Amino acid sequence: APRKDSPLYALLEQAAAYYRQQLRQHPKKARAVSYLKQRGLTGHIAKTYDIGMAPPGWDNLMAHLARDSTEVKALIEAGLVVENEDSGKRYDRFRDRIMFPIRDSRGRVIGFGGRVLGDDKPKYLNSPETPVFHKGQELYGLYEAKQQNRQLQDILVVEGYMDVIALAQHGVTNAVATLGTATSEDHLKRLFRLVHSVTFCFDGDKAGRQAAWRALNSALPVLEDGRHVRFLFLPDGQDPDSMVREEGQQAFEQRINQQAQPLTEYLFRHLSEEARPDSLEGKAHLAALALPLIDRVPGSLLRRLLRQSLAQITGMDLNQVASEAAQAPAAQQ
Ligand code: GTP
Ligand code: MN
Ligand code: MN
Ligand code: MN
Ligand code: MN
Repeated sequence: APRKDSPLYALLEQAAAYYRQQLRQHPKKARAVSYLKQRGLTGHIAKTYDIGMAPPGWDNLMAHLARDSTEVKALIEAGLVVENEDSGKRYDRFRDRIMFPIRDSRGRVIGFGGRVLGDDKPKYLNSPETPVFHKGQELYGLYEAKQQNRQLQDILVVEGYMDVIALAQHGVTNAVATLGTATSEDHLKRLFRLVHSVTFCFDGDKAGRQAAWRALNSALPVLEDGRHVRFLFLPDGQDPDSMVREEGQQAFEQRINQQAQPLTEYLFRHLSEEARPDSLEGKAHLAALALPLIDRVPGSLLRRLLRQSLAQITGMDLNQVASEAAQAPAAQQ
């Protein structure tokens, strides 16, 4: 863990201030401002999420924040400046991008995401791992969600920066995003320290559906009794950003309340698609797939209910299911 007073925090905060200022003052700010407008964002929400702009050019940030090579080295350590291994050339990592500061849950800037204004690749660029930035642990928007809600009840986990921000723009202020990584057990442990209900809402595309099943696998080991994990699947081609812009806050929240499936329901439904439990073979297949997953649930009451439910679906004797569970093979990925 980094020292609490790591000088990188101050540097990252200065960088965020610089990017924020560029979005307001740079001679070429118009393109960035109109891009944000075109995506439906107001100045108010841009401020809440501290959105900025990295201007075009190779060394704007470096020139602004570093007076000597020691200070350039600090920028490199912070992930803001890149040093080419062969040539030794140094340049700003983020150029000509919309900038999203990533804060830890205490509000300190620990990294950035940057989006191109057009269709260039890569669409998003993230800070690399640094002494203060660990992608597998941090969640974009968590600090801002806490700021906007006196008491968080349910947290919505989405895929992208723009999903978090567009939802907030429409009054859904409880969304967070993983940073281009899969949702980890660490992420979920962190969320369940704050709330007892987490709802995943990934994109309505193949990547989103795969991410949902991976998220289920990360969630199983943290499912203590009293915790809820749900999944909301969006129509094909939609993501939370496009969805909330299309239908607005009320319909989106209604969608969550009416359509989000409890993890347990999703688990049986997903496995049933593969096992097809309409024959004895299918029922055995379903039990073989489900038992190792059920056994990873730490909540003993929920685990019992899941076995009961599996017993009902398969028509097996419950005691049978329970004892088979003890011998079931290790969970498959
Ligand atoms: P918009 O086009 O701005 O609406 O982005 P999106 O969030 O809808 O993007 P998409 O659904 O394609 O991807 C989901 C998330 O994956 C993004 O928010 C990023 O965190 C990440 N991602 C997408 N493209 C890239 C990329 O080119 N590089 C990296 N590192 N991450 C990406
Ligand atoms: Mn650390
Ligand atoms: Mn997608
Ligand atoms: Mn998307
Ligand atoms: Mn999108």
